[in-house]
Amino acid sequence: MNNRLTTSWGAPVGDNQNSQTAGQRGPTLIQDVHLLEKLAHFNRERVPERVVHAKGAGAHGYFEVTNSEIANYTKADFLSEAGKRTPLFARFSTVAGEVGSADTVRDPRGFAVKFYTDEGNYDLVGNNTPVFFIRDAIKFPDFIHTQKRDPQTHLKNPTAVWDFWSLSPESLHQVTILMSDRGIPATLRHMHGFGSHTFKWVNKQGEAVWVKYHFKTDQGVKNLDVELAAKLAGENPDYHTEDLFNAIEQGDYPSWTLYVQMMPLEDANTYKWDPFDVTKVWSQKDYPLIEVGKMVLNQNPENYFAEVEQATFSPGTFVPGIEASPDKMLQGRLFAYADAHRYRVGVNHNALPINSPKCPVHNYQRDGQMRFDGNGGKSVYYEPNSFGGPKEVPEANMTPFEVTGQAGTHNYNHDDHYTQAGDLYRLMSEEERARLVANIVGAMKPVKSEEIKLRQISHFYKADLEYGTRIAEGLGLSVPQEA
Ligand code: HEM
Repeated sequence: MNNRLTTSWGAPVGDNQNSQTAGQRGPTLIQDVHLLEKLAHFNRERVPERVVHAKGAGAHGYFEVTNSEIANYTKADFLSEAGKRTPLFARFSTVAGEVGSADTVRDPRGFAVKFYTDEGNYDLVGNNTPVFFIRDAIKFPDFIHTQKRDPQTHLKNPTAVWDFWSLSPESLHQVTILMSDRGIPATLRHMHGFGSHTFKWVNKQGEAVWVKYHFKTDQGVKNLDVELAAKLAGENPDYHTEDLFNAIEQGDYPSWTLYVQMMPLEDANTYKWDPFDVTKVWSQKDYPLIEVGKMVLNQNPENYFAEVEQATFSPGTFVPGIEASPDKMLQGRLFAYADAHRYRVGVNHNALPINSPKCPVHNYQRDGQMRFDGNGGKSVYYEPNSFGGPKEVPEANMTPFEVTGQAGTHNYNHDDHYTQAGDLYRLMSEEERARLVANIVGAMKPVKSEEIKLRQISHFYKADLEYGTRIAEGLGLSVPQEA
């Protein structure tokens, strides 16, 4: 009985190869509802791809705490003791390309992890870079427009890319990382991951610290040489997807060690960088890495659409003990993701098996399109109520924090976009610098405006005189050195 072909309603199908026709050569009959259902369902197979990070690969695994001291800093249940294991699902992605685009392009890689904790899901939705191009959510749609296709030509547009970057010098640090060797990881297993933003950890006593997350690959960092990457993009555009799947299939489970940097709350007012500016890193000399645990990926999805395409990660999905910071990018992301999920997957996306928590869910949300679970059955559906419905948990409240000042559109106080980008350049070996410069020169050559090129070169100069000079020379331009 198990291998009987049925309709979606379970009735046996008599013929799945020949549609019903009026006679041997007559037209097809509208009464062939099996045919109609098959064609109609096929037409609806696609959901909108993610507006960014459309191309991705995912896998299941677990997180295991290795440092029992961590519980002193956060009451997050899944970090409460060494040895505690939490199941998770991770998805890695490129940013700008469409769902069928090549894996081995120069782009940041998304690094999204969904921890199914006993106190609800925690999503850490980061990248393989510790910083980002911009630091205010209001600039994100414009930025992404420049990374996607030109509205007329439907081609990628380097003039738009460098126009935006040159007019947004806060991007210089991330541009330097992107154009360096790390811009094309060898595989998804050979790259680090970062939470990038600053988050707040709160312990059982209500004491808080600011934290930044670092996932260090246990496989070691490896990058692709540009010629090989270009060749692979043509020959095997799914190279990274295939590599991750095969490694896990062969039992070669990739893992990452998670560390945090911790900053006392009061340091945020005096630290040399604004700790909520996602274009900057915190020096590891000032705030050293503290080990937290290990993430291991040991199981491939059974079904790509159900588990990877329908996975919905949101930086706003927190658990008690982990909270947002005032980072303006993070604040915008707290809205953007769940909104995207309601549009892309539907209002009940969080009840799908890949997204639903592995702990009980009790609330008063009901109905909505595709409510495919029990919809709360006959349980009480409003609050307050006299029928023993689910009650608030005051300990889960966010920790209050002080805000002062005038409501308005405030700029960041810190405007040094150059020191950290320059430090990174100065840290590189001569070979790395040469490749960085070649990558940037190659990427800027097609820009159709000398003004844009000069404006961008002036930023490289300000980061490091040699950095700017080499790019100017590579492009056959010279800029007055006013750094
Ligand atoms: C995906 C918005 C910045 C990492 C997405 C999606 C949206 C979005 C709408 C698609 C979500 C979906 O359809 O499931 C934004 C906005 C940003 C921002 C408005 C700035 C205000 C960032 C930053 C990072 C990041 C700074 C990393 C540090 C990711 C990742 C994904 C993603 C990893 C893919 C998640 C997955 O695998 O499903 N972003 N993003 N984004 N974003 Fe962002």
